[in-house]
Amino acid sequence: RKSNKLWIISAAAIIAALIICPAAFAKVVIKCATSTQPSHIYNEGIRHMAKIVKEKSNGEMEIQLFPAAQLGSERDAVEGLQLGTLEMTLTSTGPLGNFVPAIKVFNLPFLFTSREAAYKVLDGKIGDQITASFPKIGIRALAWVENGFRNITNSKRAINKPADMDGLKIRVMEDDLFIATMKALGASPLPMAFGELYTALEQKTVDAQENPLAVIESSRFFEVQKYLAMTGHFYSPSMILVSEKFFKGLKPEQQKILQDAAFDARDFERKLSMEADQKLEAELAKQGMTVTHPDKAPFVKAVAGVYTNPKIVKAIGGGDTKKGEA
Ligand code: PAF
Repeated sequence: RKSNKLWIISAAAIIAALIICPAAFAKVVIKCATSTQPSHIYNEGIRHMAKIVKEKSNGEMEIQLFPAAQLGSERDAVEGLQLGTLEMTLTSTGPLGNFVPAIKVFNLPFLFTSREAAYKVLDGKIGDQITASFPKIGIRALAWVENGFRNITNSKRAINKPADMDGLKIRVMEDDLFIATMKALGASPLPMAFGELYTALEQKTVDAQENPLAVIESSRFFEVQKYLAMTGHFYSPSMILVSEKFFKGLKPEQQKILQDAAFDARDFERKLSMEADQKLEAELAKQGMTVTHPDKAPFVKAVAGVYTNPKIVKAIGGGDTKKGEA
């Protein structure tokens, strides 16, 4: 009888606690959106992070991954974080300049010539200053990961010099720096969300696109693009971002688990990205792509004007933003 009584008291205590503070017992589900295909390095990175988070929280926290733009474009995901309708995303810096203008500086062509140089800046004072400005726009930046060095593919001709870019209709990410860079190279840029790109290439709405090898391979662009030029014209950083509202609602120990796991995922994902660059050129050639290695000097010269373009300088320096300002 005594044990019966004890049992009833414990059950009542649990029910009361659940009514007063449901969050203390509820599982934390973290929906994470990406735009790339499931096998892409972003998603490998998030799966790695999810494993750590699950282990460290004893199953109390769960990251659920939604790849391939199932939940919308990279821009939609960033807006979802601000609205609190999405908890997490891994996105390139492509759309982020529309929210944090200072980030556009990383969208300058040929800014970094090596990964080491990029990591020094991103993981140093400049990168920290930029991430520190995110809470103002309702987002917490957990870590700089990477998309990698971008190369040009197209269905028309081999590219060996800037003149070969003449008139190519090329899809770019939605930012004025990418548009200015492609115009400087003589191409006709068309901003478009990544989710629409494969069909646009297949139906020849555009002739060309530019992305790192890991994206070209995982999205099977070799099926619809014959030529690959190893231009490495942009180093494309990416970020693991969470909704600030969501982050603030976590217990301090849960915040730490998420932050530490994001740093771990950063190192893991960057390694995968480097390995992808080492092995995928041969793989894409095997898939039938004609690969060229243009001399970069004439490309660097052709885009020099992007650095001094007053509109671009103003855009990077700040100005009006839709929802926030760095
Ligand atoms: O081209 C893009 O939009 C981006 O590089 C991608 C593939 C969505 C990865 O961030």
